[in-house]
Amino acid sequence: MNNLVRVGLVGVGIIAGIHLEVLSGFPRVALEFTVDPHRPEPPEFGGTHPSHYRDLPEALGAHEPDLLVIATPTDTHCDLSIQALTGSRARVLVEKPLVHDLPSLSRLRALDNGAPAGERLFTAHHFAFSPEVRWAAEQLAGHPEWGPVADITSAFHDPYVLRGEQAFASYVSSWTDSGVNQLSMLARFVDVIALTSAEEMDSGASAWRVYRYRSAATEGSARLRTSWLTGSSSKETVLRTRSGVEIWIDHTAMTGFAADGGTLLATHGNNGRVSRKVAHYRPLYESLLSDHPDPVLGFRTAAAITELHQARIAPSDCE
Ligand SMILES: NC(=O)c1ccc[n+]([C@@H]2O[C@H](COP(=O)([O-])OP(=O)(O)OC[C@H]3O[C@@H](n4cnc5c(N)ncnc54)[C@H](O)[C@@H]3O)[C@@H](O)[C@H]2O)c1
Repeated sequence: MNNLVRVGLVGVGIIAGIHLEVLSGFPRVALEFTVDPHRPEPPEFGGTHPSHYRDLPEALGAHEPDLLVIATPTDTHCDLSIQALTGSRARVLVEKPLVHDLPSLSRLRALDNGAPAGERLFTAHHFAFSPEVRWAAEQLAGHPEWGPVADITSAFHDPYVLRGEQAFASYVSSWTDSGVNQLSMLARFVDVIALTSAEEMDSGASAWRVYRYRSAATEGSARLRTSWLTGSSSKETVLRTRSGVEIWIDHTAMTGFAADGGTLLATHGNNGRVSRKVAHYRPLYESLLSDHPDPVLGFRTAAAITELHQARIAPSDCE
């Protein structure tokens, strides 16, 4: 990207605060404008206030950004991505999940056929950048003697029961919100192939899903649990290799360890100075602002994850 990166931020809600905090750490980034119909004033950025608009087309009529960040409710991502891609030449970073249903993915693919949208459209799969995830991936890559990953169990809990209907308005459901984080995290370890079992419960506030994946030449299964029925956030994943090594990663604390039976093989801690979201989004932006963004951010990965995320079990498969 150019030396000076002129940014437009669309949606100034909760996660936008993390984007602004991380972007303010890049001296070559200038926030040119923000867009949010429900917010009267722009946020402060580097001691100044950018221009502020009520809708994206109006903003794009007045600016030529290098990067557009879309941090709006999930069911608005598709329309806003299309507006961003057709109304500007900017690189576009959309919050995860890229879209909330398969027809929306088809609309983006159709656009992709007409213009190279896929080259400019990126999804903020931030969990793939979390330090404990990158550490675990390095452990597996550095220890081929541990063998392929035989099975995975992952549980993501968020305290959104306290936010009631607002949580459904912003994030659609527990699976819509956290399942995409789990699938993008798994992309660091294995190739997920297909959904084998799915159950949505608690009116969308909880889910249970099982996926088949490929690891080296073998296949394994990943059991994924998501739920909003909790008072505090807790997220963990356990990967067990064919030789019996277990890698435990705590995504909430950003820590991990690998053990073989009673023997501790490796550990991962952190200095506690960087908040979890900043620890995710800083390396994500370093990659996005480089000449070769990590493929986990790209449209091809987002489309594959969306298909797995939105997969359903055919009725005949349940018998
Ligand atoms: N909150 C998190 O921890 C978190 C983490 C990662 C990803 N995300 C994702 O980020 C997205 C937003 O989440 P949030 O928690 O910030 O939600 P939020 O409801 O706090 O904020 C969304 C903002 O977008 C604005 N908005 C709505 N429609 C708009 C439009 N057409 N144009 C411009 N602005 C518009 C709203 O007024 C609101 O200020 C969701 O897709 C979510 O999955 C959230």
